[in-house]
Amino acid sequence: MKKVTVSAPGKLMLFGEHAVVYNHPCIVTSINERIYLTAEITNFQNFELQAPEVGITNYTKNINGLGKGKIPKGAKFVEIAVKNVFEKYSLKNGIKITTQSDFSSEFGFGSSSASTVCTVKAVSELFKLNLSNKDIFEVSYKTVLDIQNKGSGFDVAAAAYGGTLYFLTEGKIIEALPYSLPNLVVGYSGIKADTVTLINSVKDLFNSNPKMVEGIYESIELLTNSAKNEILLKHWQLLGTLMNENHKLLCALGVSIPRLDEMIEQAVNAGAYGAKLSGAGGGDCMIALSPKEKTKDVENAIINAGGKILKVKMHTEGVKVE
Ligand code: PMV
Repeated sequence: MKKVTVSAPGKLMLFGEHAVVYNHPCIVTSINERIYLTAEITNFQNFELQAPEVGITNYTKNINGLGKGKIPKGAKFVEIAVKNVFEKYSLKNGIKITTQSDFSSEFGFGSSSASTVCTVKAVSELFKLNLSNKDIFEVSYKTVLDIQNKGSGFDVAAAAYGGTLYFLTEGKIIEALPYSLPNLVVGYSGIKADTVTLINSVKDLFNSNPKMVEGIYESIELLTNSAKNEILLKHWQLLGTLMNENHKLLCALGVSIPRLDEMIEQAVNAGAYGAKLSGAGGGDCMIALSPKEKTKDVENAIINAGGKILKVKMHTEGVKVE
């Protein structure tokens, strides 16, 4: 095979953010917004990348120079993924890659992880490496750590496996749950969050008060484990209560902001079973679990609180050949 197109989904964190960085579980679901990547083997010893949505056009580098010198932001994840998978499987061919995205990197849906996973999957297909989802996860997670030095890997797992996952730090557990939450309303705060900055601020809090922060993580773990059971039992009202509790603990970690708090409070006042921020905090998105008949009211409440409704479907397929 000389050319292949693959795609991988973005993600939404449902429970357990931040604690999952420190050896506690989380629950993540994949969404219907996807990254598409076409890769072909070339006769030149070059890595070529076209990713116009992130400002990369006609980016070319010799294969031996992968990872070296200054790499533009929009090219980092794909370039380092190619470097890592080429090194691991002793590949040297030229490769030309084009990416295209359903969604903006603004929303915090995990476009970097999805591009990384797509890159590794495409190389696996082109060179008949037959990599499993776990193999793809390992190389992709290493790539993310090489670049940002931080992160639990939950977003990489969602892109590779798809569906809804109970996930423990670094992929120590990746367990597929049979379905996700119905009627989940997603509200975008309009503010772009920076995940690494938020992870660092929680780390600072931990350094100044380790007992308190570890206590919060343990409470988040209890909630996440209960949430897993309630999802399996389809106890949506109870699950909403767990979301509210999880949000309070995230507030105690200092990662929420007034806009998100307002959107969450108004969603619950409008009849949602529960609501919380989703992801690192500091902006990006909140989620509200709503009874079906209240969906419109909850959406309007979020809009009135300054949010924008994003229509996304949960529990979608992981990385695949198109
Ligand atoms: O900002 P997001 O949506 O990528 O979520 C980050 C979630 C954290 O738990 C804070 C970090 C991580 O890698 O698990």
